[in-house]
Amino acid sequence: MPSYVRAGSLPAKRHIQFRRPDGGLYAEELFSTKGFESAFSLLYHLRPPTATLDVRVWKRNSPALEPNEPLRNRHFQTRRSRRPGDAIDARIPILGNADILVAVADVDRRMEYFYRNAGGDELLFVHDGGGTLETPLGVLEYRAHDYLVLPAGTVYRLQPATPTRLVVHQSRGHVAIPKKFRNEFGQLVEHAPYCERDFRVPTLGEPVDAQGEYEIRVTSGARDALYIVQNHPFDVIGWDGYCYPYAFNLDEYAPVTGKLHQPPPVHATFEAPGAAFCAFVPRLFDYHPLAVPVPYNHSSVDCDEVLYYVSGNFMSRRGIAEGSITLHAAGAPHGPQPGAVEASLGKASTDELAIMLDTFAPLSLASGAHTFEDPGYYRSWLEAGEAPSR
Ligand SMILES: [Fe+2]
Repeated sequence: MPSYVRAGSLPAKRHIQFRRPDGGLYAEELFSTKGFESAFSLLYHLRPPTATLDVRVWKRNSPALEPNEPLRNRHFQTRRSRRPGDAIDARIPILGNADILVAVADVDRRMEYFYRNAGGDELLFVHDGGGTLETPLGVLEYRAHDYLVLPAGTVYRLQPATPTRLVVHQSRGHVAIPKKFRNEFGQLVEHAPYCERDFRVPTLGEPVDAQGEYEIRVTSGARDALYIVQNHPFDVIGWDGYCYPYAFNLDEYAPVTGKLHQPPPVHATFEAPGAAFCAFVPRLFDYHPLAVPVPYNHSSVDCDEVLYYVSGNFMSRRGIAEGSITLHAAGAPHGPQPGAVEASLGKASTDELAIMLDTFAPLSLASGAHTFEDPGYYRSWLEAGEAPSR
């Protein structure tokens, strides 16, 4: 929620009579988080969003998670995915824990139904492709390198205009802009890597004035249901508040660079319970005359690190390609592979684009992890010729 937004027609005050041209009342809806204690928006519908015709069983296969055992660093080549579908059905879970689930999705068709994840925010990263995100609060045109932030409970449809590769993060909580990038009033500070102008909010068009039988697939944690509602979900005539879907494009991210190697926290984008997100975007390298541009070996003992490689030359990683995901697990040191340090010396810049997720609880492996794993990755730090064949 970058800042306050208002759109469409609103009454002068909240919770007062607000009438349609035919004299009837618009239906006010409070869309709130953390009970009544945190960010919220007020929506004004043509008709109540509560008119439910039927609730049915929605049989969804919850992703089975297995421990990362034996504990080791792993590499998943997800570009080999060949299971397209709509933005919900195409999801292939890769990694997860109680805080967050990571999936990839190759989206090649429109959603003919509505979807609502009430269990937590969704953070969608658009690797490539473009189209429209439709919500009651308006539509957002999306494009490659967009992050789309969907507050928990948002009813939406994602409609690709061109085939779209998504990285889907399903949080158990709320995705937020890190506190260190905000001042005491919530405004983004001068040293933040983005500013309010970089965030795109939905454009609210005319409300859909229609009644019928509309299917909303609802999920909330391990509970699912299929709702049939009477009133079209996109019948909002106005809304205001701090709780709304928005987009941020990574091409707008202004990276911090330094004299010496900068650690991932300076590249932060978002945070969520048990999770921190960073982005490595094209940037100048460090300017000390003896600087080593690639990262040092490190043991990050308190978190699992997940990198999704989007584009460019991933200098410190051997065998990595677009769509690769690496899991560098707490307890397993990682760093540049042999030759990478020497190859980086004197380089002035990088064109790599990658997104990162750190989790503070161990990640487990989902079905896609087994499908896409490059099983020899944990041996990729051996010098050529050192690795006995096996
Ligand atoms: Fe790392």
